[in-house]
Amino acid sequence: MIILSVLKETDPHERRVAVSLDSVKKLMTLGINIQIEAGAGVGSGISDAAFTEAGAQVKSDAAETLQGAQIVLCVNAPPAGIIEKLSEGVLLIGTLSPYNNRALLDALAKHNITAFAMELMPRISRAQSMDVLSSQANLAGYRAVIDAVATLGKATPMMMTAAGTVPPAKVLVLGAGVAGLQAIATAKRLGAVVSAFDVRPAVKEQVQSLGAKFIEVPSEESAETKGGYAKEMSEDYKRKQSALIHETLAKMDVAICTALIPGKAAPILITEAMVKDMKPGAVIVDLAVASGGNCPLSKPDEVVVAGGVTIVGHTNMPSRVATDATSLYARNLSNFINTLFTKEKQLAINLEDELVKGTLLTHQGSIVHSQFK
Ligand SMILES: NC(=O)c1ccc[n+]([C@@H]2O[C@H](COP(=O)([O-])OP(=O)(O)OC[C@H]3O[C@@H](n4cnc5c(N)ncnc54)[C@H](O)[C@@H]3O)[C@@H](O)[C@H]2O)c1
Repeated sequence: MIILSVLKETDPHERRVAVSLDSVKKLMTLGINIQIEAGAGVGSGISDAAFTEAGAQVKSDAAETLQGAQIVLCVNAPPAGIIEKLSEGVLLIGTLSPYNNRALLDALAKHNITAFAMELMPRISRAQSMDVLSSQANLAGYRAVIDAVATLGKATPMMMTAAGTVPPAKVLVLGAGVAGLQAIATAKRLGAVVSAFDVRPAVKEQVQSLGAKFIEVPSEESAETKGGYAKEMSEDYKRKQSALIHETLAKMDVAICTALIPGKAAPILITEAMVKDMKPGAVIVDLAVASGGNCPLSKPDEVVVAGGVTIVGHTNMPSRVATDATSLYARNLSNFINTLFTKEKQLAINLEDELVKGTLLTHQGSIVHSQFK
């Protein structure tokens, strides 16, 4: 029987875990034995007793959990000390953050680990149920608005009272991908007046269908790569964009920043000068902070106040909604693992499968992914 191990995450900001009660049950139908480190689910509201009841074996520490493991699941890449302890040929599956992380790639190859980076999953219909970027970004977009509203000293919906009318809060969402669209939807549900901006004109319709205003930079420039992601824009575009954002931001109560360019530093969209011109009491939540931030004043895992504007920089927003984030992440992983097994419940990795090709970083002692070789 194949043994699959799940360790407790070591990052202090990480509350998620790579399996849920539901995914434990699903993985067991493949004939897998599951070993989980004690306390791994606590941050997501799953007790050791609940994991045991679902059929997993709870082990007291990392070493015991890893004993006999052929598959190891994680949320974030394990620390070097754990990678060293993994058996040769083990499958490691998680969001491994391979960009600009040569040391990790070398360690995975050196220890002969077959490592899959789930964030590289191709965004094709067949892989939608395995798309960790989307499942986690969706919750991050939601939570960013909740954090902003909790920090803002103002109500979001319009209120007509005997004492007068409270105007609705104005929210600007920068970047209307998965996180941005959920941020728009959440802010709308809370009654805010929402505007959004993205370099990809293709999202205009999606933004408008959620009831938000799309702010457009007049330009002929194509902003989208073949993969559907944004590319870095020209200096001329950036100048026009900057002037438009500056003017819009001055009227906003909340700005939610979600703009990312895969594998690159996040674009700077809100400059220090723009923050200066925002209303005192306004709030910026910078979801791009882990990639450098859309605002240079945001600091990883800090809430800073600059000229009366609060800038929230939580690097791990999905972890702030850990119960649901774990549930969706675990389902993404179990759906992927399912594709690695034959109908006869045998583990058989098809190196020609585009899901494997897209995510496999290291195999048989080498870095095999075309982007990182
Ligand atoms: N087919 C699928 O299964 C599937 C699933 C999810 C997402 N997608 C697509 O993948 C693409 C990326 O989505 P994502 O949310 O992961 O993106 P992302 O997290 O890489 O980026 C977030 C958003 O920031 C925007 N952005 C980048 N630079 C910007 C700038 N300078 N100014 C303003 N906005 C900027 C991007 O266009 C994107 O919409 C989208 O086209 C999305 O529709 C496809």
